[in-house]
Amino acid sequence: MTSIPDAKAPADEVVLEAIGLTKHFPVRRRLRDLFSNRHDAVHAVDDVNLTLRRGQVVALVGESGSGKSTVARLLAQLYPRTGGDIRLHGASTRVKAGAAFRRYCARVQMIFQDPFASLNPVHTIRYHLTRSLKVHGNAGSTDAELEQALHTLLERVALTPPERYLDKFPHELSGGQRQRVAIARALGAEPEALLADEPVSMLDVSIRLGILNLLRDLKERLNLAILYITHDIASARYFADQTMVMYAGRMVEGGDSETVTQSPAHPYTRLLIESAPDPDRLTGVSDAASPKDNGEPPSLIRPPSGCRFHPRCPSAMPRCSTDLPVPLQIGDSPGHWAACWLYDTEEVAK
Ligand SMILES: Nc1ncnc2c1ncn2[C@@H]1O[C@H](COP(=O)(O)OP(=O)(O)O)[C@@H](O)[C@H]1O
Ligand SMILES: [Mg+2]
Repeated sequence: MTSIPDAKAPADEVVLEAIGLTKHFPVRRRLRDLFSNRHDAVHAVDDVNLTLRRGQVVALVGESGSGKSTVARLLAQLYPRTGGDIRLHGASTRVKAGAAFRRYCARVQMIFQDPFASLNPVHTIRYHLTRSLKVHGNAGSTDAELEQALHTLLERVALTPPERYLDKFPHELSGGQRQRVAIARALGAEPEALLADEPVSMLDVSIRLGILNLLRDLKERLNLAILYITHDIASARYFADQTMVMYAGRMVEGGDSETVTQSPAHPYTRLLIESAPDPDRLTGVSDAASPKDNGEPPSLIRPPSGCRFHPRCPSAMPRCSTDLPVPLQIGDSPGHWAACWLYDTEEVAK
């Protein structure tokens, strides 16, 4: 592990990278497979590249089952990877348990979708936050220092005055307040990166914006690198600097959020945007996670050959079912790419 950089680190410094990240889950074999010697696996994540920088939010967008949570869990080192690399400040890291895992967690924290499930109902907010501070050595050396640290955490997530919340149990708080506690607990580790897996999907529409604004404020004040996972591409535009679109375990498009959401290139991204009911959906979100075409995401045990989207794609060409598309630069907006043969200029020139 590399040493922790100082707080004056440049804003665009790379914190965490996925390079060719791949995860295949073995499928329990049926009896007949034992004889055919087949080794099936769910191809949940294939060859994913992702870069998280300080002071930036990257949105990872895709419909349910596309592999988003698996990417987050791999980055959090909760699963071993099948292939590829995870680099923390440029150093390849693979940790399983014990002290190395705790050191990694101190720098890369996860926030889950369901704040009720992630807080233990028998313990108070004070208990949850104290534990986080102590595990990561941020509790100070006296009771007064601990109390001060607890207050600071609650103030950071705008649960004020802190004394009103410290001795409450999770069930005494609203969903939004619980998610704020879960975020405060993550901050207790003083992390550099937050992996937020659908952090607002289970909350009432009316409070989603408040939580996203809090995360944005933390990004700016604490110079955090944030991965924001969502099936809601409209919120990515609002909240994220960069947007990456994932389909059936593969990245299909990426670039700055404004470009990807306003000028989407990949037919799948277009479908996602068309199926979003209202561009200002943060105030009127429906939870529709799937585009309204008649297609369905493919089996990840035997994913389609070539481009995984080709069976659903309105623009599919013959080569799309045979050749795996490579990322291709789109137009002249820097950093905008799509893995789609429509943008193969050699092909277009023919
Ligand atoms: N622990 C697991 N074992 C087997 N398959 C899994 C496991 N976790 C996820 N999967 C499968 O991997 C695919 C991607 O899942 P997931 O990463 O949860 O997608 P998303 O978060 O985008 O909805 C799905 O087909 C899912 O069924
Ligand atoms: Mg998920």
